[in-house]
Amino acid sequence: MGLFKRKPKAAAGNRPVPRHIAVIMDGNGRWAKKRGLPRQAGHKIGAETFRTIATYCKDIGVQYFTVYAFSTENWKRPQEEVDALMELFRKYLREAAETMFQRGVAVRVLGDLSPLPRDILELIRETGEIADTLGPDAATASLCINYGGRDEIKNAVRAIAEQVKGGALAPEDITEETIGAHLYTAHMPDPDLIIRPSGEVRISNFLLWQSAYAEYYFTDVLWPDFKTADMDAAIDAYNSRNRRFGGV
Ligand code: FPP
Repeated sequence: MGLFKRKPKAAAGNRPVPRHIAVIMDGNGRWAKKRGLPRQAGHKIGAETFRTIATYCKDIGVQYFTVYAFSTENWKRPQEEVDALMELFRKYLREAAETMFQRGVAVRVLGDLSPLPRDILELIRETGEIADTLGPDAATASLCINYGGRDEIKNAVRAIAEQVKGGALAPEDITEETIGAHLYTAHMPDPDLIIRPSGEVRISNFLLWQSAYAEYYFTDVLWPDFKTADMDAAIDAYNSRNRRFGGV
């Protein structure tokens, strides 16, 4: 009987996995263009890819999976595309609360959420409540929405400056940990591996502070085409690197 049991995916590759993987989900527009479809169609398949890869990461033992879903600069896109992305977040957050919960993945949203429509804020709050019920050790998939690395650091500096102004903190007591504790990612370790698909080779304001010692992996695959085998390839590349954190 045991012979026919589905092997857990974690045992399939037997590779050690990074604790925290982050992805810049790039290439949705080009994926759609290649097929003569509107850009939004690429984002829709990109959202499906997120669901598949986030589940796979949980299955193979990755504790944190974080993706760039909407940057502070993405508001500059045509209104139609911004609206389509907001609609996708709405639809996804409604479904995610259930399906990802069933799969044991806590979905969280990071970023400056203040300019988001009120109903999306409510969905984010509900999703967070559902994630909380999975407990603090659950695998976490975080969607960065209205996220910008510089904006995040600026907000942290402002909050710390307020504490200094109020006398609660002395400037000489500000440490790297103080800054880390004021970022959206305060509750998670820094990313070990950051993946950018679609052939672009830049960091685009993603996790600027947190990526100080991250390993980068670039691939030409467009995000909607990204498969679990591509994640395996990225993890293999990561495992072949010699991380020295500034040492020798
Ligand atoms: C970058 O590709 C992608 C984005 C700006 C949006 C990413 C959003 C999603 C994948 C969907 C939302 C996710 C969930 C889980 C609801 P691009 O549009 O810049 O592509 P291009 O460089 O080919 O034009």
